[in-house]
Amino acid sequence: MADCTPVRELKAPGVGKLTLDRVAEVVECVEDLALFNPEELSERAGIEPEKAAAIVRAARRLAREKLGLKRVYSGAEYARVLEGRDVLTTGVGALDELLGGGLRTWDVYEFAGEFGTGKTQLCHQLAVTVQLPPSRGGLSGKAVYIDTEGTFSPQRVEAMAERFGVERPLDGVYVIRPLNVDELEEAVIEDLPALMRDNVRLIVVDSIIALYRAEFKGREMLAARQQRINYLLDWLKRYARRYGSVVAMTNQVLSQPVPWGVSIKVPAGGNIIAHASTHRLIIRRAGDAWVMEVLDSPILARGSSAKFAVTGRGLEDA
Ligand SMILES: Nc1ncnc2c1ncn2[C@@H]1O[C@H](COP(=O)(O)OP(=O)(O)O)[C@@H](O)[C@H]1O
Ligand SMILES: [Mg+2]
Repeated sequence: MADCTPVRELKAPGVGKLTLDRVAEVVECVEDLALFNPEELSERAGIEPEKAAAIVRAARRLAREKLGLKRVYSGAEYARVLEGRDVLTTGVGALDELLGGGLRTWDVYEFAGEFGTGKTQLCHQLAVTVQLPPSRGGLSGKAVYIDTEGTFSPQRVEAMAERFGVERPLDGVYVIRPLNVDELEEAVIEDLPALMRDNVRLIVVDSIIALYRAEFKGREMLAARQQRINYLLDWLKRYARRYGSVVAMTNQVLSQPVPWGVSIKVPAGGNIIAHASTHRLIIRRAGDAWVMEVLDSPILARGSSAKFAVTGRGLEDA
């Protein structure tokens, strides 16, 4: 269990017990309160903006003290922090190699592809491999599986776990099945901190786009939709940083016509998802094989690809 300093212990100028009680209904620990923007806290807890600002500032100071975090690093220090990050195996040799060893904590991985390309299978597999010990490529951690399409399958997790020798795998997975964007945001902001503190090292969102597409229809809603997606992804990145977790999300693809050619498939969600993802990968089915290709990444070669297979045992080397 990660540290939790009760919010009621916080001391901020001009902030009384009643205000802290209201905040405590939304956030339990000072360490998590430090992740809020003042406006978000003001809105969520229903308190005045000035008080929210004072509370968030005090929370950040206390959290830095308790967690031994720094506000400024030297370049060399920061390089050491980055290099010290843990890596999570996909359970597929070729995919790990494509990803430069596996999935790195703090980073956001986007897996886009058409229906039936194995995105959901991959998410299930990661929810299993994250439970493996580091000696076997795991993070000895748990997973949160945000299932927006209703395709989470306990049976698939168990089948894959058997292959990897993970016992009682469902004890290591939290499932969130939000019905709409509001419930998704509520779960991420209010429920996730307690789960993260219970050693969650992987956040899966399968898929990032489904609820938003269903709810924000038409061109005139596009700006609002993009803003809300951005808001959610920003929260996931805060948790990833704070708790040393991997974020893996799936995305649908859209056909984009190109002049004088056949249409190409591009991930949905436009610039917002593109910017939020550290690494964008696209999965295609090619006959009996599956291919994952790097679309965009700061460290992986664009256009490089790897083959894999999806079987009853999960994702495997082709
Ligand atoms: N139990 C299973 N045994 C063998 N193959 C399976 C099994 N479950 C799923 N698959 C394979 O995975 C594919 C579906 O992958 P899925 O991850 O659901 O796609 P996506 O999420 O990209 O729409 C199926 O077409 C099938 O080839
Ligand atoms: Mg799916």
